[in-house]
Amino acid sequence: MEKTSNMIVTRENHPLDPLTAEELKLTVQILKRDKGLDDHYRFANISLLEPAKSIVLDYRDEKQINREAFCIILHNQEGKTYEAVVSLTEGSITSWKLIPGVQPSIMADEFMECQEVVKSHPEMIKAFAKRGLTNMDNIMVDPWSAGNFGIEEEVDVRIVRALCYYRTSLYDNGYARPISGLYVLVDLNKMEVIKIVDKGVIPFPPLDGNYTPDQVGNMRQDVKPLEIVQPKGTSFTTEGHVIDWQKWNIRFGFNSREGLVLHTVSYNDDGVQRPILYRASLSEMVVPYGDPTDPVNRNNAFDAGEYGIGMLANSLELGCDCLGEIKYFDANLVDSKGNVIQIKNAICLHEEDFGIGWKHTDWRTGHVEVRRSRRLVLSSISTVGNYEYGFYWYFFQDGTIQFEVKLTGILHTQAIEPDRKHPHGNLVAPQLFAAHHQHFFNMRLDMMVDGMNNSVFEVNTKSMEKGPDNPYGNGFYPVSTLLKNESEAVRDLDLRTARFWKIVNPSKTNILGEPVGYKLFAGENCFPFAHDDSPLLKRAGFLKHHFWVTPFDPEEQFASGRYPNQHAGGEGLEDWVKADRSIENEDVVVWYNMGHHHITRPEDWPVMPTAYISFILKPTGFFNRNPALDVPPSKSKNSACQMDGHSSCH
Ligand code: CU
Repeated sequence: MEKTSNMIVTRENHPLDPLTAEELKLTVQILKRDKGLDDHYRFANISLLEPAKSIVLDYRDEKQINREAFCIILHNQEGKTYEAVVSLTEGSITSWKLIPGVQPSIMADEFMECQEVVKSHPEMIKAFAKRGLTNMDNIMVDPWSAGNFGIEEEVDVRIVRALCYYRTSLYDNGYARPISGLYVLVDLNKMEVIKIVDKGVIPFPPLDGNYTPDQVGNMRQDVKPLEIVQPKGTSFTTEGHVIDWQKWNIRFGFNSREGLVLHTVSYNDDGVQRPILYRASLSEMVVPYGDPTDPVNRNNAFDAGEYGIGMLANSLELGCDCLGEIKYFDANLVDSKGNVIQIKNAICLHEEDFGIGWKHTDWRTGHVEVRRSRRLVLSSISTVGNYEYGFYWYFFQDGTIQFEVKLTGILHTQAIEPDRKHPHGNLVAPQLFAAHHQHFFNMRLDMMVDGMNNSVFEVNTKSMEKGPDNPYGNGFYPVSTLLKNESEAVRDLDLRTARFWKIVNPSKTNILGEPVGYKLFAGENCFPFAHDDSPLLKRAGFLKHHFWVTPFDPEEQFASGRYPNQHAGGEGLEDWVKADRSIENEDVVVWYNMGHHHITRPEDWPVMPTAYISFILKPTGFFNRNPALDVPPSKSKNSACQMDGHSSCH
């Protein structure tokens, strides 16, 4: 079997390393110097412009690198957006382009400034006073992306909708007291209030929603310490942004839009480093709400493209966010003024015990073979306003890769009159309801299964016709269908056929003569309930189907297009596949949407117990047999786990 061996490069200063603090600083300096940028220019995004695949895969020597930064810059007086490429190697701007008719993502500084503008506006002060609220320190303002609803006065205006909440002190949960019936539109370029909507006072819900230990009180007393001890250290090693863990070799990056990114993931099979992924990332997230009433009918945050998942990443805490022997990595980003900001401990790397990996008891002899499963976890957590999202990549000893999102944080709430209910949300506390909504995650998986060119099959299981060959009607069999071009590859999950998709390398075969492959194994999912011609699905056309395949194009990075903020729609994945390009034995990119359908519950309040959603990439004939056979047995407390007559290790 021929295998690819040019995958592993484990030195520092790699072409895919995220921009360092020094590089970010230099990028801003070069832009300011060569373009004379004044304070009206805001830096929406500066991130590594990734070099071509050929350069990355053939990389041997630092001298080959031309480090480049891709920048999105807003002139907030003229309302103009520019894209620039800065060569850090050459110290110059190599490209500067005006991009007409787009809005960059909302910047963290704009959030802060917007809050102050809302709180200091005389009409808003009056509106707050009407509700008995005079201490502005206790008003919370959440700017929500505006979307695009074809409203004329919003065209070419950079806006957010600000929703307000009241807290009784700095550490009170303000989402318990939404100032419902009142919201405001803010022009972010002029930084001024342009419209106030006040539909009248809705009384505050009677109960608070606090969750800190002093406010909850009566902590349970029977929780004893649980410690993860690795007396000889971890089994992984890192060098720069590359991780070696057992047979895995994983490179990763981080940027303000996508957050954590996987690059060049490969598995060492019998001495040969076999690639699986070239790149994998969260390309977009969309959270549509099911409440048709103003203003929640416009809530459909595109959390990656409109805010930036990386920009909103947390600094993680040992023992709290991550347990055990942890290796942290910092993330470097820039704020809107071009200052470098460092998120300490933004990325967490550690190992976890994951129950049994495999086991068999020979019941005749009593001989037991059992192995613990261990997984490597690479993760980060982002806070998007009221909600938290944890993003976890898992690597298993049997060649499986899993991506999981952990959803927690605080629901988007509204106040409601006493004794009333709402058809589009459940009461989560007296006079407080949370609209039903969905969370969609679009994953971009640039596959590289044992080589660059891959093909994709859909596998449907069929019931066999009853007849002489199937007398008991039990027969079933999988049918694989090659997806030859983009239009054939726009697909949905189907429980009736236990549908899955398989990415294979048609020119590499396993011991059985079959092409080697990985299958995409779906977890929880759902469909959007918004209409196909709704403003939401015009902008998020990629949500109409679960699964898409495109041939690799470096320009096609985000399912929602490069500028989803306030965009009228029609761009991105749904548009690209209209070209109906060939995807057979090509460098393919698989796009998978997973959706969490959230009908709200009282138990989600005041802070939501974590919900989990994931998918798995599972080797399917990639290996010749279980690749985890060589995982050594663990030591039991009494003796080795390999024992005759007793199965003392469970
Ligand atoms: Cu939710």
